[in-house]
Amino acid sequence: MDSDSSLDVVNSALYRYKKTNFLFKDPMRPKDLDALLDLELRPTDVFVVTYPKSGTVWMQQILVQIMDAAHPEQAEDLTNRTRVPWLEEQLIDQPFRDRPDPRIFGSHLPPDMLPCDVQKKRVKVVYVWRNPKDVLVSAYHFAQSWVLLKPPTSFEEFFQQFLDGDEYFEAREHLDIHFVQYEDMLKDLRGEVEKLCLFLGQSLTEEQMDRVVETSTFNNMKVNPKANYKDLVEKERYSKNTMRKGVAGDWKNHFTVAQNERFDQVFKEKMRDEVRVIHHQV
Ligand code: A3P
Repeated sequence: MDSDSSLDVVNSALYRYKKTNFLFKDPMRPKDLDALLDLELRPTDVFVVTYPKSGTVWMQQILVQIMDAAHPEQAEDLTNRTRVPWLEEQLIDQPFRDRPDPRIFGSHLPPDMLPCDVQKKRVKVVYVWRNPKDVLVSAYHFAQSWVLLKPPTSFEEFFQQFLDGDEYFEAREHLDIHFVQYEDMLKDLRGEVEKLCLFLGQSLTEEQMDRVVETSTFNNMKVNPKANYKDLVEKERYSKNTMRKGVAGDWKNHFTVAQNERFDQVFKEKMRDEVRVIHHQV
């Protein structure tokens, strides 16, 4: 628990700052988060930004594979977790300053908390989003696995907490941003990788494209320790592998009819236009 009594405490694991929930964990204090605004970036940097459990690790794998194919002289034998430093963990122990271009960063932060350079230098942002009902189910399982979070006592309790979260954002106007939907990647991964390469300005051969797709399937990532965050299971920070099911529609196995109706109602009330995308930190 934090000693700073001015923090807006959500529960024993989380506090709220600028409408987003953060862990009581160094270096995720308000001053650390504010300092991120001044982080110096390069115009060649790329950010993968998501609402948690929307396919972050999947997109990390795809981006690393694309960059390795396009810049083979810089391919490195690192896990994706090291290769794609996490912004709000303040890039601890990550020698990100010396990393060769193009660097890739991960974040769950809303746009107004990203470094100012993202906008100023037109840093490319890839935003992955997913059916929020499946995000809820994935987050429910994840909350039971991540030792830093208090495990939910029931699905219903978790369901209601999720519906109570309410942050939305609209970022297309001021960021160089590309939206990718999880379900579209499931349907046509190659097509989505091609669109992504266009956005990133990276031209890959057919063979390189095949390789990106092949190494980024759920089954291949599940057995690839560089891609699947297995080290965090080994370090006992997660009790289970987060490559859980990797499908669309698992919410149907978890929601009751009444929960589904409640979800649709809250979602309709909170989504004011179709451009908005959910962002809610767990
Ligand atoms: P499930 O829990 O529904 O299986 P994040 O990386 O943002 O935490 O998202 C985790 C979700 O992405 C998990 O969903 C995980 O299984 C899924 N995922 C990761 N890699 C994937 C892949 N290659 N194909 C499909 N889903 C993938």
